[in-house]
Amino acid sequence: MIKAIIFDLDGVIVDTARYHFLAWKRLADELAIPFTETDNERLKGVSRMRSMEILLEIGGITMSETEKEKLANRKNTWFVDYVERMLPEEIYPGVKPLLEKLRQRGIQVALASSSKNAKTVIQLLHIQELFEVVVDGTMIVHSKPDPEIFLLAAMRLGIPPKECLVVEDAEAGVEAAHAAGMRCLGIGSPEQLFKAEKVISKTGDFTMEMLHEIEEKDKIGKLED
Ligand code: BG6
Ligand code: MG
Repeated sequence: MIKAIIFDLDGVIVDTARYHFLAWKRLADELAIPFTETDNERLKGVSRMRSMEILLEIGGITMSETEKEKLANRKNTWFVDYVERMLPEEIYPGVKPLLEKLRQRGIQVALASSSKNAKTVIQLLHIQELFEVVVDGTMIVHSKPDPEIFLLAAMRLGIPPKECLVVEDAEAGVEAAHAAGMRCLGIGSPEQLFKAEKVISKTGDFTMEMLHEIEEKDKIGKLED
């Protein structure tokens, strides 16, 4: 029944979620905004400008659009610096063989990341050819939790949403998957990602048996005919 798997990138394929956090933390420190890893959960999966707004909300600061864009660009410069120093070995263990195995089994594989840096990251990791479809933050208007990015990926794959599984580390990503009418496998903590059909701690731990287990589950109650 599940014919395609749509992977998020940051925090699912590679630990760039850590780099996003470090770059936002640096900006938060400059602005004297208290910002913890728990606060950072709210920034995962959402666009750069929405992340900027959430950070300012946390600090109770208001500023002009121009100023916000300037600061978000600064954060992006630091993020890109981290990414450019990243090695292909930084891909999470087991992920490359997993992507290869899925394709061998006839399951289509796509990447759907809110990041405008997604193509650079997959090129640096030398994994761009492992995805049949890549959609990123430059191709959408509304970022997660809006379903737009996953619906675009499904459309490009030519697979109906209910036959797609999303793999996500962000709460906003789980919500986006469900809003798109797709099941979701969470990567991270079950407390954080309790809305997902199943949660595992590492992407590389995924097995074909889990795929069958997830096919039996439907937490949004509208996936079956
Ligand atoms: C998502 C990350 O993948 O991309 C978010 O989870 C990030 O933390 C978003 O803000 C946008 O990324 P970028 O690279 O376009 O600033
Ligand atoms: Mg992510």
